[in-house]
Amino acid sequence: MSNALKVENLCKTYIVNKIQNNVLKNVNFTVEEGDMTAIMGPSGSGKSTLLYAVSGMDNVTSGEILFMGKDIAKMPEKELAGLRLNNMGFIFQQMYMMKNLSILDNIILPARQSGKINETYTETAKRGLKLMKKLDIADIADNDINEVSGGQLQRACICRSIINNPDIIFADEPTGALNRSASKEVMEELVKMNKEGTTIMLVTHDVKVASKCKKVLYMLDGNIKGEYEFSKDTDNDERTRERCLNNWLMDMGW
Ligand SMILES: Nc1ncnc2c1ncn2[C@@H]1O[C@H](COP(=O)(O)OP(=O)(O)O)[C@@H](O)[C@H]1O
Ligand SMILES: [Mg+2]
Repeated sequence: MSNALKVENLCKTYIVNKIQNNVLKNVNFTVEEGDMTAIMGPSGSGKSTLLYAVSGMDNVTSGEILFMGKDIAKMPEKELAGLRLNNMGFIFQQMYMMKNLSILDNIILPARQSGKINETYTETAKRGLKLMKKLDIADIADNDINEVSGGQLQRACICRSIINNPDIIFADEPTGALNRSASKEVMEELVKMNKEGTTIMLVTHDVKVASKCKKVLYMLDGNIKGEYEFSKDTDNDERTRERCLNNWLMDMGW
């Protein structure tokens, strides 16, 4: 397996009112192609900052972020924007969608913006609808965003995040605003996509969500304190996975 992401000595400092806040302190880790990695850790430990930094959404103070062999920390903004649009997918806790577009038009917007694939609107819409069928939300294609449930909207966000066939999906608390059953549905879709080859990196507070991943990184005070990898023997045993993760999290001081 080769690396999807290799992060070396990553530092990020915010300066607010002349006070320096070192939020990421020499972070090092790698994500292999096909990994599904959760980032856990207390509130304020730097999880979101890390996710935004390694996905090129936010600049960094120093360090290297190698994505597909290229250092995105030093990449010109235009090239980076292309990479984000064509090779990365994003899912957030708050489901940002355009109010004046239907769900389907929201989903295919990144493909229309990309211009990489030579498709007519009808062809792109057909692809969007196919994804919606896959996530079982085809019936809301023409709805406005305020006419659907949180779970449906989050599944629509997943469709949008994968419309350009990204190599990697970054998700910040993708189930944070969902109830238990919607959260389970969304995780099932992410697991399915990972099994089909998409690398996934997500931030979560939820042990149930993290236990669906292959690895868990624990962040504390701007650093990765530990990494947990689930044993293959527990692949289909949800309860054991959750119990093992819980034990490890307690060792980490969770
Ligand atoms: N845009 C920002 N400007 C200044 N400080 C920030 C900004 N974003 C986050 N921080 C600070 O960085 C630290 C880590 O925040 P964050 O990455 O959001 O943590 P987490 O996602 O683990 O809860 C916090 O101390 C927070 O106040
Ligand atoms: Mg956060």
